[in-house]
Amino acid sequence: MTRRLLARLVLVGALLLGVLTLQSPARADLEHPRQDFLRSSVGGLFLHWGQRTAPSHTSCSQWESDVTGGGWTPDYWVQEAQKLHTQYLVLATFHSRLGYARPWPSKIPGSCSTKRDFLGELITAAKAKGLKTILYMTDDPQWHDEGGHEWLDSAAYSKYKGRTVDLTGRDGFGEFSYDNFFEVMDRYPDLGGFWIDNDNAYWESHNLYAQVYQKRPNYTISNNNEDTPIMDMISNEQKTGMSPSYDYPQAVYTAAPRLVEADFKLPSTGSWWYTGSDPAVDRKLTLGRLITNVGSSVKALMAETAMVGGRLPGNQVAFNNFAKGYLDAIAESVHGTEGGGYLHGGLAPGFWNDGSHGVTTVSRTDPDKHYIHVLTPPSTSTLRLRDNGYRVTGVTNLRTGAPIAYSQSGGTLSLTGLGGWDPYDTVFNVTTAGREGIVPASSYTMSASASAGGHGAAAAADGDYRTYWDSNKTTPVSLRFDLGSAKRVQYIGVNQREDSVSYARSGTEQSARIRDYRVYVSNDGTTWGSPVKTGTLPSRRGVAFIDIPATTTRHVRLEVVNTHAESSDSTRYKRLRIDEAWIGTAYAAGGGTTPTPNRYEAENGAYSTGSTVDSDHTGFTGTGFVNTPNAVGAYVEWTVQSATARSASIAIRYANGTTTGRPLDVSVNGTVVSAGRAFDGTGSWTTWADSILTVPLTAGANTVRVTATSANGAPNLDHLDVEASCCV
Ligand code: GCU
Ligand code: CA
Repeated sequence: MTRRLLARLVLVGALLLGVLTLQSPARADLEHPRQDFLRSSVGGLFLHWGQRTAPSHTSCSQWESDVTGGGWTPDYWVQEAQKLHTQYLVLATFHSRLGYARPWPSKIPGSCSTKRDFLGELITAAKAKGLKTILYMTDDPQWHDEGGHEWLDSAAYSKYKGRTVDLTGRDGFGEFSYDNFFEVMDRYPDLGGFWIDNDNAYWESHNLYAQVYQKRPNYTISNNNEDTPIMDMISNEQKTGMSPSYDYPQAVYTAAPRLVEADFKLPSTGSWWYTGSDPAVDRKLTLGRLITNVGSSVKALMAETAMVGGRLPGNQVAFNNFAKGYLDAIAESVHGTEGGGYLHGGLAPGFWNDGSHGVTTVSRTDPDKHYIHVLTPPSTSTLRLRDNGYRVTGVTNLRTGAPIAYSQSGGTLSLTGLGGWDPYDTVFNVTTAGREGIVPASSYTMSASASAGGHGAAAAADGDYRTYWDSNKTTPVSLRFDLGSAKRVQYIGVNQREDSVSYARSGTEQSARIRDYRVYVSNDGTTWGSPVKTGTLPSRRGVAFIDIPATTTRHVRLEVVNTHAESSDSTRYKRLRIDEAWIGTAYAAGGGTTPTPNRYEAENGAYSTGSTVDSDHTGFTGTGFVNTPNAVGAYVEWTVQSATARSASIAIRYANGTTTGRPLDVSVNGTVVSAGRAFDGTGSWTTWADSILTVPLTAGANTVRVTATSANGAPNLDHLDVEASCCV
């Protein structure tokens, strides 16, 4: 081969490569190892901090000197991120409204650049603690003269480029920021990636993203608003309408497992950056937002407002300090877990009984280990949630270790005797013996009345949540399961794509989830008869269940009559996508523990002088009963243990063989909780009755005393039963 031919081949190859690079999407990986740190993270800390952080500086050097003089240290930010149990930092300094400063010694003139390498120091300090740093980049020159000062220096940049470039226009600014992307890539191999606010046509026409991926394949790229598979993450800055206010963002633009970041401003009032004010941090809202996104493909970015010297305002410091201890206590339920009830199995999250709401998490290393996070407790002492086929073998309160009474039936797990709710997140630690009664994905043949190309019915039962059946915008539409042979059928489980809103946000942003459905069964796959079940599913995130009267059949047909989206949303109207669906042959075996009251015999308690322990009237428990003197002030006192502070039901067992009432004051820990409570005649001294009331108990030892208020003294007292927080 001549040198000339070789040169020509190399040229053709290079051209081909160039064309490929330009025309193919930068990359379209749904999942990639470079995203691992994000997937395993609890969340991130987002810091808006720059030249316009109060007190606003127009002089770059003065700002830098005040940053350093103010005691800026990268370790401080790393520590604050760790207090929030987050694993990455996003630094928003090259920010349109904060003065476009670059906190590194840039060789590119055009906006403020520091001599000290704040970015490099942060990357190094974060790396030392196993955290990543992500750099925010803006696309937008429109705030170039924000506050009456010109922040961009077109003349200096033009001189550097050897031609005139207007940094205040989108193209010129796109070129300037494009150069900065490359400078950062050259300088910081350990950067975690870029968090890009929107998009710039210059970047697109110059194939920026493909080059980032080529040059730094370990960087992640996140885009605020742009829903494109080019990016690792799609972010939602301050656009996350939520119901309740800490629930998952209502819109997840791209179906999981693509990563979504929800950027929450942590003091929910005030500016996104420090303006001199120190708004209070709403603990419930903030912790709720962090916890609802734990382990999910939606990452919570906690946006705080660093001051010039890097320190955070007092309320945010106080919150971070509180969050540290608070989350330490439930660490195993937030670290190394996946969000439950979605892609990874797990108990169903969402809206539960009696006004309760919360999420569940599943251990990444033990799929049988689950956590229930109750963010809004029920108004009753019972919590019920769908068990998703898991047979529960034990429940404890993760914070206190106290055993919790539970029962399971009909696909529902009920936790009973609950109280003493944590104000932000009561966490139950649930052990299970795995899932039962589910026909595995490999054992049916799937078919559908309509399918989009590449998304046939088989994808709805291939055990892979990344593949899905698409109805090709057809409704009504049927998805059929052929079980191969007749089997007992009890319910259908459905995981729809998590890529539409939970609530219709507008005429053009509606839920694509199943609304009305019918279920048919057939033995021959030809004769279906009338539906065995018709119903309506709510538009809610997570796993959905359709129960049917148990029957034995070979074929099951789920007919989706319609979906929630109205025709005004042309993207989602009639769109139906199911990741995975399955048949439940039976509910998880009923089990559980029955709460038995804790019994405290009167004869083992303390009692007033002159009392006797008698046994002459039958029907008592223990070894006898206490017969107090017939006098005002006669008493019996029990010492009662409680694992938690709670409100508990107690029963005082007594007999009064007279026809005159013998009222008692009931006091708990010295405070009368029921004054002159009636203990009327029971008919005879051998007829025992319970006087039941609810009393407040503190964690640890409590005294419960009954004191006679009449001259007849107390009735005969047998025992005190205290509602157990659980099972004994
Ligand atoms: C009777 C009865 C006692 C009871 C007493 C009373 O003596 O046998 O058990 O305590 O009346 O009136 O208090
Ligand atoms: Ca699938």
